[in-house]
Amino acid sequence: MDAATAVQADGAQVLRMLRGAVAQRGLGQLADKLAEAERYAASDLAACAEDFARVRVDEAGPVGPSANHLVSLGGKRLRPLCVALSARTGSGFGAAGRHVAVAAEFVHSATLLHDDVVDVGDSRRGAPTARVVYGNAASIFAGDWLLVAALRHVRMAGLPGLFDSLLGTLEAMIGAESLQLHSRGNLAADRATYLRIADGKTASLFAWCCAGGARAGGADDAQAAALGAYGQKLGLAFQLVDDVLDYGGRPEETGKALFTDLREGKPTFPLLVALERRPQLVRLLEPLLHGEDVPGLHADVATQVVESGALEETRRFAAEQAEGAIAQLSILNDSAARTALETLAYAVVHRFA
Ligand code: IPE
Ligand code: IPE
Ligand code: MG
Ligand code: MG
Repeated sequence: MDAATAVQADGAQVLRMLRGAVAQRGLGQLADKLAEAERYAASDLAACAEDFARVRVDEAGPVGPSANHLVSLGGKRLRPLCVALSARTGSGFGAAGRHVAVAAEFVHSATLLHDDVVDVGDSRRGAPTARVVYGNAASIFAGDWLLVAALRHVRMAGLPGLFDSLLGTLEAMIGAESLQLHSRGNLAADRATYLRIADGKTASLFAWCCAGGARAGGADDAQAAALGAYGQKLGLAFQLVDDVLDYGGRPEETGKALFTDLREGKPTFPLLVALERRPQLVRLLEPLLHGEDVPGLHADVATQVVESGALEETRRFAAEQAEGAIAQLSILNDSAARTALETLAYAVVHRFA
């Protein structure tokens, strides 16, 4: 994919992609609701797309091109959508909300640039990763650059408490990455450890997006907390499905290589479930944990994971999280924005990308 032409200008790619996924699963009503959400959010998504199209990092050397490479490839832009819809449950998505949306996507982009170095990721968003094109060091500094830019945008949003809450979120993300590093190759890790990792590294940012969006829309403490709790559960559902796709996705849809988690010895939810169901799988995994390169081993393990039914169980657990997310919205008045957030939570569980 050509980085410069990859992003569709209207920014609604995530909702179209989800609509395609649910339609493929025969969920016609949900597809219709996603089409409605797309119409509802169109102008906000276009505004965000404009903000991101303006982003060019002008640093000399490889740091600017490294950041621009990832940002110009677009991605789903799910976090800005969460900000916009959360703001719309209140007074609307204005200038402050747009700063929060840009900050959220920049934090996310920074974590991806760092993550591909840590996970030795070769492809993302259907293209070689920035670290492959410009090197690991440039990818790290590009991530740092985007993180600083994110903090600037939060300050420009001018919403009380939001800067400090992002600092707390960043600490949660780093803590979870540390625990994930510590858990590498630990096949005796339990579900509680997995949940701590996923909650910190992914869900905490979704929580911040929704609570921050709510604040931008003038929400009171209770409303912002409810949207934050929605985001936390949505984010966990999102990470669970990401882990499913590492075993059962199609790289041409996800834009990422298969078995990256397995290669890095990550005890993700599908692997833990498969190990519970088939304890003898440990023996197959042994060489992998000792860094031995056995041809076809990843595919063999993945076959076992798939045949154990672990991917279905993981999606079911993700669906429970999505239901839990939706339940958090009960204190909000009925609105098109609330319906769109509910629709998003139902749909995320079914995604292929
Ligand atoms: C990938 O996030 C990292 C996770 C938290 C699982 P996305 O799947 O939202 O990545 P892009 O932005 O669409 O590329
Ligand atoms: C996502 O973890 C967490 C981040 C904050 C980057 P993953 O390692 O599962 O993300 P992908 O699969 O590489 O996108
Ligand atoms: Mg990764
Ligand atoms: Mg992943």
